Amino acid sequence: MNDTYRKLHDRLVIGLKLLPDKPEESPDSTLRALWHAATGDPRSAVAALHDELPELPANSPSLQTLEHFVDRRLAGEPLAHITGRQQFMGLEMLCGPQALIPRAETEQLARASIELLQQPGMRQRAVVIDVGTGCGNLAFAIAHHVPDAEVFGTDLSEDAIAFAKRNGVHLGLQTRVEFRTGDLLASFETPDFLGHVDLIVSNPPYIASAKLNQADMVVGAPPYIRTTRVEQMAAEIAHHEPRLAFDGGPFGVTILMRLIEDAPRFLRAGGWLAFEVGLGQGAALTKRLQRDHSFQEVRALVDGNGASRAILARRS
Ligand SMILES: C[S@@+](CC[C@H](N)C(=O)[O-])C[C@H]1O[C@@H](n2cnc3c(N)ncnc32)[C@H](O)[C@@H]1O
Repeated sequence: MNDTYRKLHDRLVIGLKLLPDKPEESPDSTLRALWHAATGDPRSAVAALHDELPELPANSPSLQTLEHFVDRRLAGEPLAHITGRQQFMGLEMLCGPQALIPRAETEQLARASIELLQQPGMRQRAVVIDVGTGCGNLAFAIAHHVPDAEVFGTDLSEDAIAFAKRNGVHLGLQTRVEFRTGDLLASFETPDFLGHVDLIVSNPPYIASAKLNQADMVVGAPPYIRTTRVEQMAAEIAHHEPRLAFDGGPFGVTILMRLIEDAPRFLRAGGWLAFEVGLGQGAALTKRLQRDHSFQEVRALVDGNGASRAILARRS
């Protein structure tokens, strides 16, 4: 470890505020990712941890760039926005303020979706739609790991869709995923999709926007009211990532409920709806799906703490 590394590492150890939704970030992985970016060869925190650091001569422009990057990170700018990279399911994605930074927790949904597509009985050329695709991470992960799948991504945000297309070129997967702008499944209201989709996957916005206090636990308020609220999010997230990516309406489940209502028209019999949920939302949404005759099988995926973080529901 050289003096430059030691000095900048010490600054990060003292000043870096780490967030639980980016478990891959540490003073070490952060400095290594910024170091690579400063030399013009950016990579994610995950990749940087294992790759050898290039030389950074004293007084070089690259060293000044690195010091500036460390300042920006300590001022609260997300690491993935400075480096322009985030790893998801082994893919080095482009990352920017146009779309949500893919989170490690969403890999659980990606893995479950890939398993559904690989299980016996699934059509080889399965049709998949990723709703709220953001930078395209779920769509690209599925396209990469399930080479025969026909994958589509859609988002209400034109900026996100333009960015996802850039990501396709970056990943060499531009011919594998088709992107469309639209509200939920609106851009697929055609006979070739209605009743023909094998998997609808989504990591939708699910944070509650309501300015409620704990004292607002009014009679009849649903349990998912305790979900994180947009106003309570860390500044690093709230100030740098698009609000459209988080805001799930007053209780956080507005988009999820609309998706549950819309999806059956698009899914073929035996097709799957798979989506991520916020902490505290899983039990109520599982019950909602179990009561719905459009679905015949409902599975909740739990995280390491036993909390439901994704739900899979099979079309009747
Ligand atoms: C939590 S982000 C997920 C991004 C990405 N799929 C991921 O896993 O990181 C939710 C995404 O849903 C999009 N979105 C919000 N409302 C939408 C709507 N009504 N229809 C389609 N997309 C929507 C946002 O623009 C955002 O990209």
